[in-house]
Amino acid sequence: MKKVIRKAIFPVAGLGTRFLPATKASPKEMLPIVDKPLIQYAVEEAVGAGIDVMVFITGRSKRAIPDHFDKAYEVETELANRGKIETLKIVQNIVPPHVTCVYIRQAEALGLGHAVSCAKAVIGDEPFAVLLADDLIDDGEKGCLSQMVRIFEDWQCSLLGVEKIDPAETESYGIVRATQITDRLGKIGEIVEKPKPEAAPSNLAVVGRYILTPTIFDKLDRLSKGAGGEIQLTDAIAQLLQEEPVLAYEFYGKRYDCGSKLGYLIATVEQGLKHPELRNEFKSYLKQLVIE
Ligand code: G1P
Repeated sequence: MKKVIRKAIFPVAGLGTRFLPATKASPKEMLPIVDKPLIQYAVEEAVGAGIDVMVFITGRSKRAIPDHFDKAYEVETELANRGKIETLKIVQNIVPPHVTCVYIRQAEALGLGHAVSCAKAVIGDEPFAVLLADDLIDDGEKGCLSQMVRIFEDWQCSLLGVEKIDPAETESYGIVRATQITDRLGKIGEIVEKPKPEAAPSNLAVVGRYILTPTIFDKLDRLSKGAGGEIQLTDAIAQLLQEEPVLAYEFYGKRYDCGSKLGYLIATVEQGLKHPELRNEFKSYLKQLVIE
């Protein structure tokens, strides 16, 4: 029987040091792009891909994330009293009613691989997705994960979202070597976490979208610390591909690296230019700004 992807993991325990002091007391995943926090874009992408169990791997000082996906009695009552029905609907429909949110606390920030392994008991023996909210992907349609789920339906194996990057930037990513299957799909033969440009097997970088089979948990259980002294998901995938096919998929769409200040600003400007309420005025403002 064909397997389906029902559950997604959102590792959100990171400290967000690149955005201090903004992230001193609030999670980096709650930074807004225009009017929605980054984590909401990722959750909406998962919902669009048919996922109905969202597993958040959280940490201390991340309470704003469960609060965001919870009922907000005070605000809702206030909006209802003032007759602001449209805004009320927005606040009430952040996740559809059929979606379940599960929160797991990762006591120590031991790395992405460790974060994923914290979800083992909730995921069980089924394939699942991992979304890193830092990587905001806009494909103008239902989202990158929907594209990947469609490929999973045919191939029934692990699949990583990849993108060609500037070869000078390999030290910021997991990098793969893949043998081409079709235009955008390849079979991964090697994966390395953050190699120096001269040691990188290619310029094909893993961005924050993964579909993984549960075999990854066995690999993660036995892993020792890797790059940066952390338990790396990349190292577990390197072991997984010795046993099972792991595919690399060059998705359609634009990725914004919202883990960096510049990427975050670019995302804000470009999403602002697409926002139905703002686009005209914002565009005129930007034009004027450039002329001056
Ligand atoms: C993580 C992964 C890396 C991947 C990247 C995508 O790194 O470890 O393999 O390429 O996400 O954004 P981080 O950005 O958390 O350092």
